[in-house]
Amino acid sequence: MKLFQHDYFPHITGDRVSLRQIKDADLDDLIEISFYDAIQAKTVQQAAEMQSKINQDYLDGNSIHWGIVDNITDKIVGTCGYYRGLDKGEGELGCVLLSKYYGKGYMTDGMSLAIDFGLNTLGLKRIWAATGQQNVPARKLLERLNFVQIAEADDEIEYELRQASGK
Ligand SMILES: CC(C)(COP(=O)(O)OP(=O)(O)OC[C@H]1O[C@@H](n2cnc3c(N)ncnc32)[C@H](O)[C@@H]1OP(=O)(O)O)[C@@H](O)C(=O)NCCC(=O)NCCS
Repeated sequence: MKLFQHDYFPHITGDRVSLRQIKDADLDDLIEISFYDAIQAKTVQQAAEMQSKINQDYLDGNSIHWGIVDNITDKIVGTCGYYRGLDKGEGELGCVLLSKYYGKGYMTDGMSLAIDFGLNTLGLKRIWAATGQQNVPARKLLERLNFVQIAEADDEIEYELRQASGK
């Protein structure tokens, strides 16, 4: 698999959702969850500018940002990806759902595909995620996916994936 090249982006097909690259046609639906460097896009133009930086980050080998697509409707329900650490063989997972798709299990399915890809295709030796103390849905999501809390600083909690082997 030739990752991080112009003519290739990893598409992962699951039973209920799939992970694919975000296209210009998706951006209008994604404004609510279009962020770069913690700044939210306010217009489609800003979301497009962010997406081109995200595409460049992929080509530079720094991140993989997927759209999570419902296999039946072909609509993007949210995004997830690896945003830091790939240069060290590790990956920080992040994710966000469009609010109308909260509470339906979409992110659990999307993140499971991303984790499997991280472990088995990227060969990551560590997968982690960080969230706020008060972010109960995110904490439940991570715990459901077998992440365990490893550190706590100010309001942030760091979680690490506990792999089946017990590592
Ligand atoms: C974090 C976030 C993705 C969690 O969303 P979510 O909807 O709770 O997560 P899922 O899509 O996996 O849905 C799981 C919920 O759907 C329920 N559910 C309903 N139908 C379901 C189905 N068919 N299959 C599985 N779960 C289903 C589950 O019981 C679970 O609810 P519970 O947590 O109350 O038990 C969302 O709150 C979000 O986007 N937050 C903003 C960004 C953020 O905080 N990101 C975290 C960074 S680490």
